[in-house]
Amino acid sequence: MKNIYSNIYSLNKKTLKQTIKSLKKGNIAGLPTETVYGLAGNAYSKRAVIKIFKLKNRPKNNPLIIHYLKLSKINKDVEVNKNFFKLYNKFCPGPLTFVLKKRKKSKIVSLASAKLDTIAIRFPKHRLIRSILKLIDFPLAMPSANLSSGLSPVNAYDVFEEFGKKIKTIINGGSSKIGIESTVVSLIGKPKVLRPGIISEKEIKKVLKTNLGKKINKIRSPGMFNKHYSPGIPVVIGRKPINRKYAYIVFGKKNKEYKNYFNLSKKGDLNEAAANLYKTMRKIKKKGFKKIFVSKIPNKGPGLAINDRLKRASN
Ligand code: TXA
Ligand code: MG
Repeated sequence: MKNIYSNIYSLNKKTLKQTIKSLKKGNIAGLPTETVYGLAGNAYSKRAVIKIFKLKNRPKNNPLIIHYLKLSKINKDVEVNKNFFKLYNKFCPGPLTFVLKKRKKSKIVSLASAKLDTIAIRFPKHRLIRSILKLIDFPLAMPSANLSSGLSPVNAYDVFEEFGKKIKTIINGGSSKIGIESTVVSLIGKPKVLRPGIISEKEIKKVLKTNLGKKINKIRSPGMFNKHYSPGIPVVIGRKPINRKYAYIVFGKKNKEYKNYFNLSKKGDLNEAAANLYKTMRKIKKKGFKKIFVSKIPNKGPGLAINDRLKRASN
């Protein structure tokens, strides 16, 4: 039988070499990170960046995150500051994205950052993406590997579901451990969180020893886009469904085990719930449910990020 997933590879010496070669040529690859899977291309190549926007059908005013292996690689592209170093030392590599001033001489394609004078950068932790970054001399522009406004993929098969054979390479790096996108923090002027994530505002505040800005500024950020993280069927939050034809996402011990009930974490662990969120919504959609209801999720720690995504999925 023909393997329909023939563009999904596990990473070994041979496929690593092929992936590097392909990225160098300006091609796009679906790659694993610890947050969600990304659609990666050379951030210094206009051709590659245009391809990413096209594949995703992404509005040109929504900038991409640029991914680096380590500190020594970013100097030519962004201006760093004290707050950046504090957070970098504490959380990187990891699920935190920094918005910084772009350097004039930066080679990052201006379309990648939506022609803004800022760039969002991240240092991913997943072993496989790091082994790829080690072997290339350019950073990777890498949005989540889903069609614009849909659910982010958390494994190689999710990426296949989004793009099929439209991309030559998808690297299988297992399930993304964190399961939701990185926290985005702007470090221009007063630090502020533009997109909540597993690293919370509280933790960032503790490291920076300063209050964070509240209002989202004019910089385009994910929060400014209303419809986002949508499973493609209506999502209703804070209510129980009236019948078993609708799916019900629940959280914690005291829940029934009906067929339309999907528990994000039976033990009531919010990190586990975050890791299961997109996976669960994709599953519900595939099973053919026409609507998703979601019970209340505690609004603290990772719960803040989960509720943010649910709220936008329900728009
Ligand atoms: O965890 C993640 O961050 C994943 C993995 C693949 O690294 N990537 C990801 O990328 O979530 P994406 O494109 O789906 O979301 C990036 C968000 C965008 O919605 C964009 O608005 C924001 O980051 N962003 C990028 N550049 C920015 C900038 N210069 N200023 C403000 N926001 C920016
Ligand atoms: Mg995304």
